Amino acid sequence: MSIQTQILDTSDAVAQHAARTIATHIQNKPNVILGLATGSTPVKTYAELVCLHREENLDFSKVTTFNLDEYWGLDGDHDQSYRYFMQHHLFDHINIRPWNTHVPNGKAVDATLEGEAYEAQIRACGGVDLWLIGIGQNGHIAFNEPGSDMDSLTRRIDLLADTIEANARFFENSADVPQQAITVGVGTIFAAKKVLLLATGEGKAEAIKNATQGPIGSQCPASFLQNHPDCTFLIDQEAATQISAS
Ligand code: F6R
Repeated sequence: MSIQTQILDTSDAVAQHAARTIATHIQNKPNVILGLATGSTPVKTYAELVCLHREENLDFSKVTTFNLDEYWGLDGDHDQSYRYFMQHHLFDHINIRPWNTHVPNGKAVDATLEGEAYEAQIRACGGVDLWLIGIGQNGHIAFNEPGSDMDSLTRRIDLLADTIEANARFFENSADVPQQAITVGVGTIFAAKKVLLLATGEGKAEAIKNATQGPIGSQCPASFLQNHPDCTFLIDQEAATQISAS
């Protein structure tokens, strides 16, 4: 088992390839269970999926989705919440049924119960077929910061200073940047039948090297994916500058 690394020329090519991969999964299994991510990286992929829906009738009517994470303390209608992001970039533009889209509730009364309920919902659907994820510069996947265990599940987590700083670009006031999130665990992602990690830009080059070629451990949560039976890293040339292709 090892990560398959596919290097494409540009971030546009990464997005097109990722969207085609997702579309193929939907065509092969119309009621596919997809895991999804937010952040800058998948924005173009979602735009491609919207195009495939409009131009090629890609049908999301039976698709179910689970997102990786949500800021703790933000309502879904807050314009920096991940629920809002998903509506804006994808869900509002395709024929997915709203009740088939799941994002952890950042305003849940009890984070532990919310985490358990989210895991139970994923299990009740039969598990995630394909999880699209990104990677943080510190090697995090979802908001599993360094220190997160392989068997971690959905839970509330304290964000590290560098993640808070990276997220601050989206908030007008740095004091408004959430310090916590509710995130699926490394174990939740690992349970997906296939994991597709996207990374673009040279800012991700070191994280990609550590994840694919570094030691496996919680110092770089993405490195646990080296043991996944079906994991592909789809990256552009800039993100590949510190590795050689497998
Ligand atoms: C997003 C998420 C994060 C991001 C990562 C990369 O739901 O869980 O792990 O995938 O921080 O973010 P971008 O794509 O903005 O560089």
